[in-house]
Amino acid sequence: MGEKKAKIAVLVSGGGTNLQAILDAQKSGIIKSGEVNLVVSNNSKAYALERAANAGVDTLVVLKKEYGSQEAFEDAIIKALDDRGIDLIILAGFMSILSKHFTDHYPKRIINVHPALIPSFCGEGFYGLKVHEAALAKGVKVSGATVHFVNEIPDGGEIIAQKAVYVEDGDTPETLQRRIMEQAEWIILPQAAEKICAQIIGGE
Ligand code: GAR
Repeated sequence: MGEKKAKIAVLVSGGGTNLQAILDAQKSGIIKSGEVNLVVSNNSKAYALERAANAGVDTLVVLKKEYGSQEAFEDAIIKALDDRGIDLIILAGFMSILSKHFTDHYPKRIINVHPALIPSFCGEGFYGLKVHEAALAKGVKVSGATVHFVNEIPDGGEIIAQKAVYVEDGDTPETLQRRIMEQAEWIILPQAAEKICAQIIGGE
């Protein structure tokens, strides 16, 4: 493999533990075919922005309220990504649904991590702790995480990777969220990112 690396942008909204997993995987060599070039947040207070700055990665805050429409908000992100020649967009706890306008611009070039085994507990309204609250309310004994391509259907794109995690007696949404992050998300998201980056630089 040559020196060429896919340029990655990570879109975030909050704590950024999945961003951290990607940055750590880059450092340790698990991600070797790509490099995080930009972190975009739709929340100026996201701790993920500090994680990016600590790693020396450029950041950009794009606030929906500063744009007149969803399309104008998405165009601002598209411009920033295209100006840098971004190859792969990773949604890592990005809590804003992107419309067909955005997703059509990057076919098979956007991936997302979802904290459940799709098709369970997914789609509009299922994000963050709400996903784990719904899983516990249903009484499932196994949940997990999914990495998938992003298209215009929320959580509807092709599945790339999944990992199951046991629900334990006495779990709260918070304890289940943490276990799914540790045992699934932080592992399969970097692995999937490396797989797709390798395909991109390989010309697929
Ligand atoms: C993660 O559990 C991620 O899977 C989830 O939000 C959390 C973000 O945490 N994403 C969604 O629910 C998207 N539908 P992080 O900011 O620490 O990575």
